[in-house]
Amino acid sequence: MAAQGWPLSLWLWLSLLLSLLLGARAAAARWSGAGTTPHLQSIFLGRCAEYTTLLSLQPGHQNCTAIWEAFKAVLDKDPCSVLPSDYDLFINLSRHSLPRDKSLFWENNHLLVTSFAENARRLMPLCDVLYGKVGDFLSWCRQENASGLDYQSCPTSEDCENNAVDSYWKRASMQYSRDSSGVINVMLNGSEPTGAYPVKGFFADFEIPYLQKDKITRIEIWVMHEVGGPIVESCGEGSVKILEDRLEALGFQHNCIDDYRPVKFLMCVDHSTHPDCVMSLASASLRRGSPALSTTRDASLVISLLVAWTSSSQV
Ligand SMILES: *[C@@H]1O[C@H](CO)[C@@H](O)[C@H](O)[C@H]1NC(C)=O
Ligand SMILES: *[C@@H]1O[C@H](CO)[C@@H](O)[C@H](O)[C@H]1NC(C)=O
Ligand SMILES: *[C@@H]1O[C@H](CO)[C@@H](O)[C@H](O)[C@H]1NC(C)=O
Ligand SMILES: *[C@@H]1O[C@H](CO)[C@@H](O)[C@H](O)[C@H]1NC(C)=O
Repeated sequence: MAAQGWPLSLWLWLSLLLSLLLGARAAAARWSGAGTTPHLQSIFLGRCAEYTTLLSLQPGHQNCTAIWEAFKAVLDKDPCSVLPSDYDLFINLSRHSLPRDKSLFWENNHLLVTSFAENARRLMPLCDVLYGKVGDFLSWCRQENASGLDYQSCPTSEDCENNAVDSYWKRASMQYSRDSSGVINVMLNGSEPTGAYPVKGFFADFEIPYLQKDKITRIEIWVMHEVGGPIVESCGEGSVKILEDRLEALGFQHNCIDDYRPVKFLMCVDHSTHPDCVMSLASASLRRGSPALSTTRDASLVISLLVAWTSSSQV
């Protein structure tokens, strides 16, 4: 009996373990997005405190506790019943003016935008504005039929339109667009197989419609391609053309630049020996147009520079 009892209890243990594992997997699969970020409140408050004090980006009049209180009201709501307007008070409390000519809109370039913006030292994309900073890269939602946060998964637009994270970015995007002024920069990914400008997306649906035409001097589009390609779309092509036509129809001054050089240099940091990047460096020295060329080894470069220099001094 003992010899038969052991395998039976082992089998029971295994089936219990299995059902627990399957149960956990089923819970994890409830929604298609990442679950609530652990330490959400600490990260939120820490970023807010850093933004309003250390970075001195905003003359520190905001009350981070009050901003968090306003934000966390959505954590009491059904995860598929959060509207952009549920963030109105949060936006009211965290809103601040944006520097002119520093706005940077984007699609499919998040990490590159973060590096290029340099914590708003160079440009100020939405993720470097206080109300965008506090939620950047984070996820949050309440459990479906219970109070408390869901750390397993959260809904995305595939699950339901009115999910907590998308509604946050919609509301924040609208505010960011309304408050942007001067030159508006837009960074698109010309290597993205589905097109550089998503005709349905945050930029198309929640930013362009809210730009204030009287405050905007010009819109500059940068189509960036991955080092070594693929070059899926460039200025004047495909979805970029759709965007250019849309801006034209709306009456905005606009222009488009392929592989905008300052951003290309940053992309080349990890590919410095790649031919695309070597060429960029050579043409950069050409552009400098200085006659002090003692360090240049390439004789043809020296000659072309001298030609360029003499012809420009003849003008
Ligand atoms: C900040 O907001 C909290 C919550 O609304 C409030 O209790 C606190 O007094 C406020 N602090 C300041 C300095 O206004
Ligand atoms: C936010 O502020 C605007 C005016 O600045 C006001 O009209 C609106 O009612 C406020 N919303 C909330 C939720 O406080
Ligand atoms: C641009 O899109 C490609 C294709 O989706 C992707 O592999 C690449 O990481 C994107 N570039 C950036 C800077 O995000
Ligand atoms: C929540 O409740 C609804 C309706 O009672 C039910 O269909 C759904 O499966 C429940 N979800 C979870 C995760 O328990």
